[in-house]
Amino acid sequence: MNNIQSENNFDVMRFREDFPILKTKISGKDLIYFDNAATTQKPQQVIDSLVDYYSNTNSNIHRAAHHLAEKATSEYEGAREKIAKYIGATRPEEIVFVRGTSEAINLVARTFGDSFIGKGDEIILSEMEHHSNIIPWQMLASRRGATLKYISVKSDGSLDMEEYERLLNKRTKLVSLTYVSNALGTINPVREIIGKAHSVGAKILLDSAQAVAHIPIDVKELDVDFLAFSGHKMYAPTGIGVLYGKYELLDEMPPFMGGGEMIKNVTLQGSTFNQLPFKFEAGTPNIAGAIGLASAIDYINSIGLENMAAYEMGLLDYLYAKALEINGLELYCKHENRAGVLPFKLGNAHPSDVGAFLDAKGIAIRTGHHCAQPLMEKFCVPGMARASICFYNTKDEVDIFISALSRINEMLK
Ligand code: ALA
Repeated sequence: MNNIQSENNFDVMRFREDFPILKTKISGKDLIYFDNAATTQKPQQVIDSLVDYYSNTNSNIHRAAHHLAEKATSEYEGAREKIAKYIGATRPEEIVFVRGTSEAINLVARTFGDSFIGKGDEIILSEMEHHSNIIPWQMLASRRGATLKYISVKSDGSLDMEEYERLLNKRTKLVSLTYVSNALGTINPVREIIGKAHSVGAKILLDSAQAVAHIPIDVKELDVDFLAFSGHKMYAPTGIGVLYGKYELLDEMPPFMGGGEMIKNVTLQGSTFNQLPFKFEAGTPNIAGAIGLASAIDYINSIGLENMAAYEMGLLDYLYAKALEINGLELYCKHENRAGVLPFKLGNAHPSDVGAFLDAKGIAIRTGHHCAQPLMEKFCVPGMARASICFYNTKDEVDIFISALSRINEMLK
């Protein structure tokens, strides 16, 4: 990894050149893309890797004895190794390719959950979870008779860690929490959370969809049991994501979906299953997506995740400081342990109206419930407006955004 670059040495204008979509005009205005928590844009290097794969390599993997199949297999398995290294996994078999974070969490609920969580057992979630980290557990709880418990979110947007300690007990079998909240930007104290879960013998899953492109992650150092993330939030294509699991846990879990590749032997009477990680990868996988994800990791490494993160933190502080200068703008995240996201309310304006006004100025943000309806209920709002930044955004873009918000504020007076 490069030495950490100071904000002034971070050549954001050069990096922006890598993203063709950033040159788009919306309603005649330069696009300002502040919807990075929904999905990030893709650099030319990642786009090229997809074109190159389909132009020069396309073939099915693990199946045929010909040159292209071997090349595709080697690139797909190479991608797995690269991802293992990126998150500090001990071995590539601990990396299971899935469609995205939602599928990864569903996989754990259906396999680990159905096998090891039963009546009277407890699962701890929080009020700030994305629906993809609530619904699979509600479905599991209703299948298996388990109980769900939720850690409250405090009014400043942080987790109530004292309540977490009170909820933990010997019936807790799993804690499944987001590393970074998609709606609030809160970075949760995951080391403490993991340690406390393990102290009562519970396993822990971290939904890292919003963390993986912004915070260096080392699964061994964290000692996390499961970790889920999506490629498309880290400059890679949609439709590819990762479930990391400790080898011994994945090994004792039954398969998720049945089909080709996940079997060792099939007879009409029954089947035996393949070794890790293939046991969990039924059917032809998203080969191009995995290769695109590896290319996104190369791209991140070429800049240095720490450099990106340091720049993003500086830009987010600037965004918060500027937003606070607007009269009547209310922030939902009132602490400083945050990444990438500014969730806000502008006077009495409906978030959708704020979004539509900004869109007319070429500024893309997300408005609505952010797939986190329980959190909206907690804050007694139908939705929030959310600007989410990443390393290719600039202070000039923040200034234009802030002056557009000020203009809406004036109009509403
Ligand atoms: N989870 C994505 C978001 O927060 C879609 O916008």
